[in-house]
Amino acid sequence: MKKLPLLGDLTPAQFLRDYWHKKPLLIRQAIPGMKAPVSVDALAKMATENFVESRLITNVDGDWQMQHGPLTALPARTQAGWSMLVQGVNLVDARADALLRQFRFIPDARLDDLMISFATDGGGVGPHFDSYDVFLLQAHGKRRWRISAQKDLTLVEGMPLKILKNFVAEEEYLLEPGDMLYLPPHYAHDGVAEGDCMTCSIGFRSPSYQELGEAFLQFMADSIDLPGRYSDPDLAVSSKPAEIPRHMLDTVIEEMNKVRFDEQDVTIFLGEHLSEPKHNVFFTGPVKPLTMGRFIDTIGKRGVALSLKTQMLYRGKHVFINGESFAVGRADKSVLEPLANARVLDGAALAGASDDVVEALYTWYQDGWLMLG
Ligand code: SIN
Ligand code: CO
Repeated sequence: MKKLPLLGDLTPAQFLRDYWHKKPLLIRQAIPGMKAPVSVDALAKMATENFVESRLITNVDGDWQMQHGPLTALPARTQAGWSMLVQGVNLVDARADALLRQFRFIPDARLDDLMISFATDGGGVGPHFDSYDVFLLQAHGKRRWRISAQKDLTLVEGMPLKILKNFVAEEEYLLEPGDMLYLPPHYAHDGVAEGDCMTCSIGFRSPSYQELGEAFLQFMADSIDLPGRYSDPDLAVSSKPAEIPRHMLDTVIEEMNKVRFDEQDVTIFLGEHLSEPKHNVFFTGPVKPLTMGRFIDTIGKRGVALSLKTQMLYRGKHVFINGESFAVGRADKSVLEPLANARVLDGAALAGASDDVVEALYTWYQDGWLMLG
């Protein structure tokens, strides 16, 4: 792969080898001529929606306060020291989506969302650490970042947000529009706005094994097959009626040990789980959908594009879209995999699509998962 200005002229492979999960990287002018993907007003409008996750953070004389959205009123823009954070801007704004997708040298299964914060002079979220990797891209105005590799990650108790008790900055950088700072998980940091400032955070997801395990057991509940029922033809007379019989326990252990899963089960589980829309994501289909015939004509000319909110993944013979899985043959794979990777397909690429694929595309179009190109 070639060098990316986004990564300070490192190749993605060099970045992943030397920095990812390992150490911070400051990239001056990662995006030259950077413009914020949305205006402050548009961001504030998003924060009023109940399908958008947002927070308002203020710090008055060391007293941190946090309010969760929808944010119906914001402090005055002339008031110093507040910060509004809006999660998942990529789900509702095409420019934010395009920005996030510049980071697709990392798989979609690991990319989470684009969060945008707006802060007035002195605003920030305090010294803290995150459990995930993050790219902090300055979109507008200036922010002073102080960072530390410190091992002491003790938090101040009783705060509405995570604030490090003993933050000691080791390095300090003033970021201007287009500059970007990469931080590995658990790296202490504190970013303070110098004048009005907008920062984009490219966030990643790394599900905990506990979360995966719980979801996997639910998934397996739908697919286990344990025929038969407990019986005890050799039952002996019970002198301690309250005690669970040994035979019963042994038999149940033996039966439960028959629960098995293989690579295919885990693949389907993971694909469905990772492509599942977040709880606040809703799709809206077209108000007046085309008929199937018109749909086929139109996509033959214009192609199709996945909705900003759609998560489409695949592995082996399975394709996953918004929490659903499909087993597909080789021919259908050759249409659906390019769609998943490019998130658009032109009319020519759709020419060879089977009836099954066209039917699936039509359903996804009706559900708002996919648009006409
Ligand atoms: C911010 O944009 O204010 C905070 C981002 C972060 O520190 O993770
Ligand atoms: Co952070």
